[in-house]
Amino acid sequence: MTLLVTGCAGFIGSAYCRYVLKHHPEDAIIGLDALTYSGNLSTIADLQESSRFSFVQARIEDEAAVSDVVKSGSVSAIVNFAAETHNDRSILEDADFLTTNVIGVSKLLKVVRGCGVQKMVQVSTDEVYGAAPHGKFTEDSPLLPNTPYSASKAAGDLQCRAHFKTFGTPVIITRGGNSYGPFQYPEKLISFFAVRLLQDKKVPLYGDGSQVREWIHVMDHAAGIDCALRSGTPGEIYNIGTENERKNSEITRVLLDLLSKPESLIKQIEDPRKGAHDVRYSMDSSKLRSLGWKPQVDFDRGLRETIAWYDEHESWWKPICDRPEYQQFVARFYGPGLGEDL
Ligand code: TYD
Repeated sequence: MTLLVTGCAGFIGSAYCRYVLKHHPEDAIIGLDALTYSGNLSTIADLQESSRFSFVQARIEDEAAVSDVVKSGSVSAIVNFAAETHNDRSILEDADFLTTNVIGVSKLLKVVRGCGVQKMVQVSTDEVYGAAPHGKFTEDSPLLPNTPYSASKAAGDLQCRAHFKTFGTPVIITRGGNSYGPFQYPEKLISFFAVRLLQDKKVPLYGDGSQVREWIHVMDHAAGIDCALRSGTPGEIYNIGTENERKNSEITRVLLDLLSKPESLIKQIEDPRKGAHDVRYSMDSSKLRSLGWKPQVDFDRGLRETIAWYDEHESWWKPICDRPEYQQFVARFYGPGLGEDL
């Protein structure tokens, strides 16, 4: 079949394309991406070498453009990764989050219905459930998002539910944990800290670093999404988690260790997320596991390989870190003084 992968030039979208090209030799991919700040052609240079991959630059909100691609490419399924994803950016300004994560999703759902696409997967996040101080979220847990970012993702999920209920649009939602791996834009905990430590710059640990995240290697996440697409049921939601829960402070120390950097490079800062900083995420993923998926990548190995990848791929991340937009975000969010030395 031909898949339309939206957000293909981002972190998880590009990993998903790699996964499909490797595991489904009969499939072709049309990759679509708006190439906003976090989508990079350098991320998909390897994909572009495949005769089974083609690229289109467009926004998912551009219903006419997406519709044309779907019709001319005889697309049977859409997997939507296109999203604004960084909590900290949503604290500064949420307009792009609402445009892409809510309006963009509703436009894609209209394309699915209008063009008779057989299935859509909406790639969502555990953050829509809000914090889990105890226990685990199931797919039936209430949506209690705490940040403008997670609220926009929850609103996108609700659009999917409403289109399924109202029109029978065949959409599946996946909710993944915190992903790590190669090609992650250097603004998230692991990717940001890795590139800063590689440059001997301090890393800003929010508060006491006691918050817990459920970490998943990006290829395990990609495999989970693919399992939901091929074996899941329209209208259903699937959590994609690993039970690999780690505190931010623990992750930070492992990164220092892997890169042989001193503890003095940790700078604990006042928590910029304030009351919206979710203390823990944790999901029950038995529903997806019952379809045959399970995570394959051991966290210690995955993290070691990921850090080695950043070490070897300065040519990928350094041009991003040198962009004025990137430096302006870091200076604006972390305040004056974060630039060269926290
Ligand atoms: P992040 O990678 O932004 O993912 P999310 O907010 O979606 O979970 O953050 C993961 C955790 O790391 C979160 O508890 C905030 C913390 N964090 C820091 O302590 N310092 C940082 O510079 C960043 C980006 C995150």
